[in-house]
Amino acid sequence: MTYKLPKDFFFGAAMSGPQTEGAYNIEGRLRSYWDMTSDLEINKFFNNVGSYVGNDMYHRYEEDIKLLKSLNFKSFRTSMQWTRLIDRDGKLNPAGAAWYHKLIDCANENKIDIFMNMYHFDMPEYLYQKGGWANREIVEAYANFVKIAMEEFGHKVKYWFTFNEPIVEPEQQYLHGNWYPYVKDFSTSIKVQYNITLAHSLAVHNFRKLKAADKIDQDAKIGMINCFAPPYTRPDPTPEDLEAVRMTDGLHNRWWLDVVAHGHLPEDVIDTVENKWKIDIGRRPGDDAILAEGVVDWLGFNYYQPTRVQAPDCDFDESGNPMIAKPYIWPERKMNVHRGWEIYPQGIYDFGMKIKKECPDLPFFISENGMGVEGEEKYYQDGVIQDDYRIDFVRDHLIWIAKSIEDGANCLGYHYWGVIDNWSWYNAFKNRYGFVRVCLDKGYQREEKKSAQWIREIALNNEFE
Ligand code: BG6
Repeated sequence: MTYKLPKDFFFGAAMSGPQTEGAYNIEGRLRSYWDMTSDLEINKFFNNVGSYVGNDMYHRYEEDIKLLKSLNFKSFRTSMQWTRLIDRDGKLNPAGAAWYHKLIDCANENKIDIFMNMYHFDMPEYLYQKGGWANREIVEAYANFVKIAMEEFGHKVKYWFTFNEPIVEPEQQYLHGNWYPYVKDFSTSIKVQYNITLAHSLAVHNFRKLKAADKIDQDAKIGMINCFAPPYTRPDPTPEDLEAVRMTDGLHNRWWLDVVAHGHLPEDVIDTVENKWKIDIGRRPGDDAILAEGVVDWLGFNYYQPTRVQAPDCDFDESGNPMIAKPYIWPERKMNVHRGWEIYPQGIYDFGMKIKKECPDLPFFISENGMGVEGEEKYYQDGVIQDDYRIDFVRDHLIWIAKSIEDGANCLGYHYWGVIDNWSWYNAFKNRYGFVRVCLDKGYQREEKKSAQWIREIALNNEFE
């Protein structure tokens, strides 16, 4: 059977500055949270590989952009590192700006649309030391950084994004305690989430102001990118299971959807947090007007896995944190064992339909989707990594995307995560996502895997078997 995607549906690459650029200590680049954690505890990083080198894109950007072009991709999302663009006084770092000019010019010359994201978990260390997102002053510092970037590149970059996965830092650093400083405190986590939401809204506000003043091209758009996880529970759920779904969905998904589509936070979620759990999220008079500015032109939907939850065993843990849900293990689940994530392609359809229903005026695109596999060298045959598992993974998701478009979802494109293998937080180079391998033993040389040729043909014709 031949599956067809709309003619103007775009294929592209998703990456990020801190995971690709490297060149971490040159030309005035400041240290980031990841440089700090790498120095503090290098043994927490897979194979002791810290944040320093990325995949060497700083030096290879021309080659990489040509590679993306050769895959018939129309767009490329990366992120601008706060640490490279801005100095400690909150002013433009000309040397950092010069590199981003080169990168953007190169993409424009190759007719690759650059999607510029402004934050990918990469807080400057000195701001993290001031409390990071838990400190409301940082919201202003971020808004200043984004404003400077937009003033500098407003006539070169058409597609701007405020955040990648704004839910991840609150959850990983302050709720689940998986990332430094390994805190498990709902109250801090929700304050951080709230401050990031304000930061997003201020950045959108600045974008609109600069556009009105003609400092940004008139056809430019602003968006936000988040990892949305469609929530499911067990068959024949109890009211308590459904309540677990409501709050999981509310904090993880609806929180962001409501801000970017409707300019406010979900009332039922705020009501539960503030009135039932008695947790102060730090709201101040005037904040609602800031949040009202958070409405975007389009949304990036990162999809990796669903969330399956059921009622928790108790309402609060021993430290007084509300217990929102506990995991529900679906007996039929299929896992990516390398990453520990469930593979459930239908989730991309279900959530696309949720966006259509809850935010009918909001166009979106799949801004990340991908499969990370450890030890890919064992799949070498005739000098090429035979990553048929990746082809199956992407194909299965594209089938559900095509179906969602048929059923009315306003999904405009597909960006694959990590088209060129990259460094990834504590996992470093453990799980490889790319259609293109980065050979660490050959000075970061790029090498196409089998899937590269496969996606190249699909991206050319927007159809596949
Ligand atoms: C996404 C992030 O959540 O997942 C990326 O935006 C990340 O930064 C990707 O690399 C894959 O996750 P991981 O941990 O397997 O690299």
